[in-house]
Amino acid sequence: MLGDVSRSLSCRYLEQTLPRFQKENEVSFTVINGENSAERNGIDKESAQALFSAGADVITTGNHVFRNFEAKRLLEENPRILRPANFPGSVPGDGVCLTKAEGYSILVINLMGVVMMEPLENPFMAVDRILERYKGRYDLSLLDFHAETTSEKLALAHYVDGRITVMAGTHTHVATADEGILPRGTAYITDLGMCGPDGSVLGIKPECIIEKMTTYLPVKFIPSENHVTAHGILAEVDGNTGKAVSIRRVTF
Ligand SMILES: [Fe+2]
Repeated sequence: MLGDVSRSLSCRYLEQTLPRFQKENEVSFTVINGENSAERNGIDKESAQALFSAGADVITTGNHVFRNFEAKRLLEENPRILRPANFPGSVPGDGVCLTKAEGYSILVINLMGVVMMEPLENPFMAVDRILERYKGRYDLSLLDFHAETTSEKLALAHYVDGRITVMAGTHTHVATADEGILPRGTAYITDLGMCGPDGSVLGIKPECIIEKMTTYLPVKFIPSENHVTAHGILAEVDGNTGKAVSIRRVTF
């Protein structure tokens, strides 16, 4: 699983580097958060195509998913691009994808936090609803929880421990150092970090954010063009038990 991809520069970087990483590490399934992958933020057809060509099996998103108007159609047309499942049901797209890899059925779920974010459906209730709906239909499950606070991410992780194979947090763009296996077998990390430019503030040139935070005026966010680093985790899972065997942070 790879963290939030920042703009087209980082999409191109993943196209150049991810195939080799997958081969060298015998990766059989890849989930990438693409909610900031379009040049104008959000996700668009071009950035989604780039992430699939880089090696994504499923693209997850978050609060920025509909920043581009074309995202609505994109999500309706491609069930492998998810928006948070706890958006209202009338919102285009889906937050769950049931797919296959190496003979195993994999359930991929995308949820968004509600602490310091939009007042969506409670993610704890949403995950119960989803796991009940798909009961008996999958071998492994992956959850991208796109949320602001570490407490909400950790609490949900313990809530789903033993029911989800791998849970990773996204959204903060800064990787946390707490990856590990929870007591009942869920592999977990609070935040995957970003696939984006080094020395930036969440992908943006620092001077833009400093101006915003010192003047409170609207400021144009100019993406950093620094060298990109990809951040994420590599988890080894047992398809027969649905439990995680190992998890480690990766950068490339
Ligand atoms: Fe986000």
